[in-house]
Amino acid sequence: MPHTMDFDGHSPRPENIGIVAVEIYFPSSYVDQVKLEEYDEVSAGKYTKGLGQLQMGFCSDNEDINSLCLTVLANLMEKHGISYSEIGRLEVGTETIIDKSKSVKSALMQLFEESGNFDVEGIDTTNACYGGTSALFNAIQWMESSSWDGRYAVVICGDIAVYSEGNARCTGGAGAIAMLIGPNAPLVFEPGLRATYMRHAYDFYKPDLTSEYPVVDGKLSVKSYISALDNCYQNYCRKASTKLKTDVPFSLRDLDFMVFHSPYCKLVKKSLARLALNDFLQDKIKYYSETEQKCFAGLENLRETDLASSIFDKSVETTFMTASNNLFESKTHRSLLIASRVGNMYTPSLYSCLVSVLISHSFEELSNKRIGLFSYGSGLASSMFSMKVCNVDDDQSKQALEKLIYGISDVKHRLDRRQEISPEDFTKTLKLRASTHLKCDYTPSTPPEHTFPGTFYLTKVDDKFRRTYDRTKTYQNGFTNGH
Ligand code: ACO
Repeated sequence: MPHTMDFDGHSPRPENIGIVAVEIYFPSSYVDQVKLEEYDEVSAGKYTKGLGQLQMGFCSDNEDINSLCLTVLANLMEKHGISYSEIGRLEVGTETIIDKSKSVKSALMQLFEESGNFDVEGIDTTNACYGGTSALFNAIQWMESSSWDGRYAVVICGDIAVYSEGNARCTGGAGAIAMLIGPNAPLVFEPGLRATYMRHAYDFYKPDLTSEYPVVDGKLSVKSYISALDNCYQNYCRKASTKLKTDVPFSLRDLDFMVFHSPYCKLVKKSLARLALNDFLQDKIKYYSETEQKCFAGLENLRETDLASSIFDKSVETTFMTASNNLFESKTHRSLLIASRVGNMYTPSLYSCLVSVLISHSFEELSNKRIGLFSYGSGLASSMFSMKVCNVDDDQSKQALEKLIYGISDVKHRLDRRQEISPEDFTKTLKLRASTHLKCDYTPSTPPEHTFPGTFYLTKVDDKFRRTYDRTKTYQNGFTNGH
């Protein structure tokens, strides 16, 4: 238990609120993007080089949003030996809707039955890929408030991202993330350092409630994403300069790692370049290290670039992608490990990038570092915020970080153990999902044989649309990673 509060109002407020443990789930089946290019008869390299995607995870008819979230929550609790009675708030961010008025959170309460703990605040939050971030902010705010009762919060982000046939289909994916939120965490959210940008846009939405597929205006969604990034970054830098009382204006120099919502990896590389363009136009490159400054030499002719109208300017984009390449390599590239192999998981996408950073660096490389996060959800809602990794010189902090990272140390192994499915069978599976979506009195036709140990799967949708689940065997010690 993180903290025992007495209710006299004089208890010390919790400090260093952040992520104590994290768990990720992605499906055990994937399709290869090179093979998908051939199958879709697009030019070789479009999905792989053009969009930066290697593989795409997908679910069959035996997985739904409830099963994904049940799996990730149960695995988090078991891996870290947390009791369900230690949870005082459970939030779900998702845009994958099945029972409409009934939340995914309520389905997750099945896992709390045995503990007898039903005093658990929180429900679902929805706005495209941003719902998880809003859920996370809710959990942090609960912990900072007078309503906090001393227990942990858990935030779950989960989605099944599928598109109708056409150019968006290759940018799908599926997965779920669970984050255990508590005080004195090894990954601490920086208080007061959040910038938000929200507008009305029809770039991606799901008006047809009988279909899993969104209506997408691809070009507008990219424009909206980049425009939201510009606005959040400028606002975040202003707030950070004031709050942190930095001697020089806050810039990319001050972000050791930068992770982004990743619809496809190429957009993330463009986004990092975009932050460098923002710094350039605000004359902040001069605060970069000498080596980095050299990469931006000779660009004076771009000084008058108009930010808003340069979003699809290929010349500006290419110039800054080249100039910021070293920054991308050191701050962002390794965050794309999971995103490039699973695809856009929608709400978990950003947090999968955080997990990728954590499993791709040593403790020393992570120690005391600032991680910037950019969350984007179409429609549109976006925020930039940051967290600090604890200092591993302190033994207690090091142990807490070790525990967190140990819990996700099986991710690469799990990615490698997935089963490759041909584009033909992938297409058949999506047809099966579409034809059985929201069907009642239905038993899924896909057996659970190939799913990972400890995976929940749908066994039946009865004549009243009520869903029941079973779970594949976990490893003996309850861990799903076979350590
Ligand atoms: N080799 C190398 N690169 C290639 C090749 C090739 N053979 N063919 C095309 N490319 C490049 C293009 O030049 C382009 O690069 P650029 O973006 O740097 O110009 C890239 O591949 C994509 O090609 P486009 O023709 O622009 O792709 P298209 O318009 O068909 O689809 C899109 C891309 C719009 C992203 C589509 O997949 C989509 O709608 N996806 C869903 C929406 C989305 O993800 N939006 C992002 C934010 S909102 C969200 O998160 C859902």
